[in-house]
Amino acid sequence: ARSSMWGGRFSGGPAAIMEQINASIDFDRRLYRQDIAGSKAHCRMLIETGIIDRADGEAILNGLDQVLQEIVEGRFVFKTALEDIHMNVESRLREIIGPAAGRLHTARSRNDQVATDFRLWTRDAIDDLDRAAAALQQALIAQAEAHADAVMPGFTHLQSAQPVTFGHHMLAYVEMLGRDRGRLRDARARLNECPLGSAALAGTGFPIDRAMTAAALGFDRPTANSLDAVSDRDFAIELLAAASLCVMHLSRLAEEMVIWTSAQFGFVRLSDGFSTGSSIMPQKRNPDAAELIRAKTGRVYGNLTGLLTVMKGLPLAYSKDMQEDKEPVFETVDTLMLCLAAMTGMVSEMTVNRDRLAAAAGAGFSTATDIADWLVRALGMPFRDAHHVTGAIVRLAEDRGVGLEDLSLADLQSVEPRITAGLRLDPTGSAASRASQGGTAPDRVRAACSDARARFLTP
Ligand code: ARG
Repeated sequence: ARSSMWGGRFSGGPAAIMEQINASIDFDRRLYRQDIAGSKAHCRMLIETGIIDRADGEAILNGLDQVLQEIVEGRFVFKTALEDIHMNVESRLREIIGPAAGRLHTARSRNDQVATDFRLWTRDAIDDLDRAAAALQQALIAQAEAHADAVMPGFTHLQSAQPVTFGHHMLAYVEMLGRDRGRLRDARARLNECPLGSAALAGTGFPIDRAMTAAALGFDRPTANSLDAVSDRDFAIELLAAASLCVMHLSRLAEEMVIWTSAQFGFVRLSDGFSTGSSIMPQKRNPDAAELIRAKTGRVYGNLTGLLTVMKGLPLAYSKDMQEDKEPVFETVDTLMLCLAAMTGMVSEMTVNRDRLAAAAGAGFSTATDIADWLVRALGMPFRDAHHVTGAIVRLAEDRGVGLEDLSLADLQSVEPRITAGLRLDPTGSAASRASQGGTAPDRVRAACSDARARFLTP
């Protein structure tokens, strides 16, 4: 049967396949709460402005409450023939309260309705993501505090570079997540304008009060241009972009977890709760959650590219193409929430093997820069010359198959006679010496932990 919402000019019903491609109810039912809140705000405004009479308006408001209750309690029957959440709700409202239901859609279109619903949903999702990202920061900071002084190898090119502290490494991710949260906050501030009252595309001739509906729904103000308000989805794309950056950061941490938990590294051990076994190899403790976070990044990037592509080249104003905006956003939010929660669990329950970290910290001639720095400081050598001399010392150690700390003073003096016993080489001292602002020294890291708590975890 033709929709009673717009069937007036039709005599034949839709083809079954038409109904199938057109319907969005299977996914946009997730907007029910926002849809009903938007309708109630619109209805109250219609009453206050005298556009509909109070008795009809009260009947609509009560009916909408009943619809909400039916959906929440799982008693609501969603119908594909009614296309989307908006028409499913309105049709049920008519069953409950009768013809007065038809007055709700005065001075409104599904175009401003869906734009409003979706902004409301996205706003809530941003708040959820912000809380989840803060929880991960909290877990990372706790590990950073526990291991502010645990010396480990720092890498560039995944080659031993200079000793760093485990706490410093954790706090690097805290900063990334802080920027991710900032991007979400920025997107939230920009999206918080209310499209309601833009109607189909041109605004409406009814004497509506847009400031009233905007305020009732917690928006900062009504949108300024009706064509823009019903036809842009940049707010959704901003969320997908911010989510893409965040999951990229999670994927890098996940990759480090995979590396660190390998037998060859052994820096970190995941809890039983976040390890999986093998059906053939009994020794296995696989980091599946980390691998899946790394992999789910693909969906999140795909959804960003997908929605950008849906929107490109659409003439103003609304086109049905835009109904394809919801699934990528829902999937991305679900995916990122899951990844943030899984990473939070992994990080808070992991055990850090400080002995393995310490043993690895000196490997790969990681204190070579300290020799060069010492030559500059103690002998006044230009850094480039010091670099050259140190290179010769590294070559000597490498030829002998020993570490830098195994060379005797006489060995060092065979390369540079002015070297004295004042040159001490050990990874712990090396890390402790890097006390510049933002550096890896344990004292710096402890201060950075409380600074991070203040910046990111106090409301
Ligand atoms: N389900 C539609 C969507 O999500 C609602 C808007 C429909 N508007 C229209 N003119 N057909 O985009």
